[in-house]
Amino acid sequence: MSNERWDSRRHFLQQLGGLGAGALAIGAFGAFGPFGLMGATRRAQAAGCAPPGNPTNPAPWKRDCRPIRARRPASTLSSPEITKLKAAYKAMRDLAASDPSDPRGFDHQANIHCWNCGGSVQVHSSWQFFAWHRAYLYFHERILGKLVGDMEFRLPYWDWDNGAHRKLPPAYVTPNNATNPLFNGTRGMTPTDVVPDEDVGDDVMDAALTAADFTEFGGSATAGGIPEGAPHGSVHVDVGGDMSFFNTAARDPIFYAHHSNVDKIWSDWVKADSSHDNPTAAAFLNLTFTFFDENKQWRSIKASQLLDHESKLRYVYGPSQALERLLCWHPWRIVRVPKWRAAKTIELTPDVLAPMLKVSSAKGLVRLHLDRPDVPLTKSAVYRVYADAKDAQADPGPNSPAYLGTVPVVLNDRENHHRPKPPRAVLNISRRLPGLIEKRAAPGLFYVERGLKPDQRKVSPLRAADAFFSVAEFSGG
Ligand code: C2O
Repeated sequence: MSNERWDSRRHFLQQLGGLGAGALAIGAFGAFGPFGLMGATRRAQAAGCAPPGNPTNPAPWKRDCRPIRARRPASTLSSPEITKLKAAYKAMRDLAASDPSDPRGFDHQANIHCWNCGGSVQVHSSWQFFAWHRAYLYFHERILGKLVGDMEFRLPYWDWDNGAHRKLPPAYVTPNNATNPLFNGTRGMTPTDVVPDEDVGDDVMDAALTAADFTEFGGSATAGGIPEGAPHGSVHVDVGGDMSFFNTAARDPIFYAHHSNVDKIWSDWVKADSSHDNPTAAAFLNLTFTFFDENKQWRSIKASQLLDHESKLRYVYGPSQALERLLCWHPWRIVRVPKWRAAKTIELTPDVLAPMLKVSSAKGLVRLHLDRPDVPLTKSAVYRVYADAKDAQADPGPNSPAYLGTVPVVLNDRENHHRPKPPRAVLNISRRLPGLIEKRAAPGLFYVERGLKPDQRKVSPLRAADAFFSVAEFSGG
């Protein structure tokens, strides 16, 4: 961190008033590993990401008069578009240094996310997730536009669901150093690494885009939906560094391109089927979020105002490969397995697999629902689920016939002050059934953390608060 950054951060913390040296160290180094973390107190943690100023009553957001423009895949931007994107983030970073109290500066923009991922405010693991992040990106995009004097500026999206775009988009890693305003030095992912197919490929995208209703897709007042885990959480873990904890994630500019794609999945889910509707409950529609706009005006916006991003928020997305590949299916049918409920274990025995196989061999979809799987919530990690303990120990990944999918966990903060909720995992096992039958269905499911050396791996039986499967028959067309 340069002295300039250090100074602006210190200035910012001083403005928050009366914080000791311990808090200072954490604010400055919170993202960079062990420095100062040991002594972190909750107070300092909160202070490091407190919202700027002391806003009183927000002015309600009314309408957007920008032209409707497309957000586009980050790796297909033209070179003038990349120049503008970089200029916008540079201006945002410069603002953080020149006026640390300006809520539009980069540090404050990043802290908005931090403030909303722990303790009293938590926008993850519930139906707030899609709506709140849409609003956050919307105001962020307007600020970037204003900073480069172009309200036609739209955020790019990192379309990792497209097999050709699994690397960090070139603009974010070229050059791959601090002279690039889109760079972040804490990433674990290098410019040549790719997001694994098991995290964002068709099995994962199908499960997201075919989620039967909004509760499954986007969650309820008390639980998150399917894609909030995979692909969303998995990509946070894959990028690593700041991105792998919610309180620091938005310090990496790739966060906004990642979330733009997550937002696109919401848009695509609505388009994917005429039965896919957003919630109509007043408790959802009246959810109210507050942000500073591009003129430093404190604004409130309701979930009901965020649903129609095209005419209200003035942006659209390009076509989705995953959506185009999706086959036409009949409505989902939930199948309960009485012996799973009785024994509280999930055994993929031949009698359970046979009806699943029938659907999948006719191009239908089969999903295994794991509600609150009991993976550890102590580390940001991706857990792999296998139908066989030996395979889990060897951990060969998706090529194993016993492999079923992943369960990602993203912590709110590195110190795990605010424990995350157990995820909702839905494994799309349609393509895996023939292999499982061959495998003779070893009883039980097992999980292992991905990316560990063999002697570090610990295989555990997977349990879940509830488990069932669902099928959707192919309807042709
Ligand atoms: Cu608010 Cu991807 O997290």
